[in-house]
Amino acid sequence: MQNSIQVPEYNLKVVRQFTLATIVWGVVGMCFGVFLAAQLVWPALSFDTPWLTFGRVRPIHTSLVIFAFGGSALFATSFYIVQRTSYARLPSDLMASIFFWGWQVLLVLIVISYAMGSTTSKEYAEMEWSLSIVLAALWLVYTWLFFATIARRKVAHIYVANWFYGAFIFVTAMVFIINSAAVPVTLTKSYSAYSGATDALIQWWYGHSVVGFILSVGFLGMMYYFVPKQADRPIYSYRLSIVHFWAIISIYIWAGPHHLHYTALPDWAQSLGMVMSVILLAPSWGGMINGMMTLSGAWYKLRYDPILRFLVVSLAFYGMSTFEGPMMAIKTVNSLSHYTDWTIGHVHAGALGWVAMISIGSLYYMIPRLWHRESMYSTKLIHIHFWLATVGTVMYLAAMWVNGISQGLMWRAINQDGTLSYSFVETIGASHYGYVARLIGGSLFAFGMILFAINCWLTLRDNRLAQPQGDLQHV
Ligand code: HEM
Ligand code: HEM
Repeated sequence: MQNSIQVPEYNLKVVRQFTLATIVWGVVGMCFGVFLAAQLVWPALSFDTPWLTFGRVRPIHTSLVIFAFGGSALFATSFYIVQRTSYARLPSDLMASIFFWGWQVLLVLIVISYAMGSTTSKEYAEMEWSLSIVLAALWLVYTWLFFATIARRKVAHIYVANWFYGAFIFVTAMVFIINSAAVPVTLTKSYSAYSGATDALIQWWYGHSVVGFILSVGFLGMMYYFVPKQADRPIYSYRLSIVHFWAIISIYIWAGPHHLHYTALPDWAQSLGMVMSVILLAPSWGGMINGMMTLSGAWYKLRYDPILRFLVVSLAFYGMSTFEGPMMAIKTVNSLSHYTDWTIGHVHAGALGWVAMISIGSLYYMIPRLWHRESMYSTKLIHIHFWLATVGTVMYLAAMWVNGISQGLMWRAINQDGTLSYSFVETIGASHYGYVARLIGGSLFAFGMILFAINCWLTLRDNRLAQPQGDLQHV
């Protein structure tokens, strides 16, 4: 089959551009994370400068790691996979370039606007209406590039990874556009089109879809291509992957209200969010098991292959965070975990352990192929990076679990006369060492990213690793 199809020359330029962008934004976004973590240890680090305050730097961190680092990783891998599995080139090189450069300019404008204090205060959609329109327009270009490539495919079949990317692209557009509806007042100020509890519900319908469709479904697309490739095994069960796809996309969209437990949201909506979140455990684990079982008969490769280690450990963290999430969605558990560092620990179990690790593993797979190199410059550096990332993530999570549970228990402790046992500031004091441990763990992770950047730069520079072009057109 493969031999009978004429393989076109793919647009690898945009894949290379987004690959480099992933690494650069990864380093920058994570350094902002380390800075935030340091501010929670030493609050004076804002230097009384408005644009360095925690409230402004935090959305810069979240936007950079989600839309710049995570986004670029998804764009690079989706363009790589959709072309190869469809045997078709992207429909337009010009539009691909416009999308790449437009996205970079947008990110810079977003960072500047947040630093200046401009915000809609909607988490993960803090950019004001003018920038939201630019984002939506660029997203439509991306949607067209992706789906038009599928429409031009030379095989009847659409590989499952593309289904996951397709759902990520479509649902992100839908929830972003609906949640961003606003009444503009000036170029830099608008008011949400919704009010009160409706506004909150739509915001978390969007917010949870960022988690569900960008940070989960998108990266599952990555998993379905790179885990079988690196393990050199077919996916464990193609049938399970189809069930996984339909189950996860039909359930994720209902889980948003678990972010609004014990609020003005109607009780039935909170309970619906809780039940859907608990059900979500099943498809999430179905996907995790499908990825893990792909290694059947190839587990021995983990002894020497650090790229496979990144991919497998990311699946383990995915399994862990998608067990923890449904538990936290149960109202009684949420009454302890909400507002505490436990949530931050859960976020980074997904963000560092899953999102970042699967992206890093996939990029290590792609880089030599994209630049026609035999391998990465240093396998030893990949091993070191793997251990820095793993130890860093575990330190981050453990610190946040201890902090979160301590905070939750201290806040609810009452004396016999009904007064609070601890003042708020005492709980902050009790969290100090956890913040120090998180700073160390986060710094290890960020340092690993810097080693990744160095290894990538050396790989691109070293011509001794060069391989003849063409051989790798269709790997
Ligand atoms: C070196 C790595 C990182 C460090 C040190 C770090 C640190 C932090 C800190 C200190 C916060 C603020 C916590 C608070 O408000 O109490 C935060 C928030 C957040 N970070 Fe990171 N981060 C890192 C990497 C990432 C990555 C790679 C992602 C996503 C892919 C991510 C996603 C988020 C999100 C979504 C929040 C907001 C959480 C919430 O509102 O509940 N972070 N991070
Ligand atoms: C079955 C899957 C999952 C469920 C049911 C789930 C559930 C939850 C719950 C209950 C919260 C706390 C809400 C609160 O108290 O405010 C939460 C927060 C969060 N989760 Fe998950 N989670 C899941 C998987 C993931 C994954 C894989 C990621 C990837 C990074 C992730 C990222 C986040 C983020 C970023 C937040 C913080 C949102 C915010 O308050 O800003 N979750 N999740």
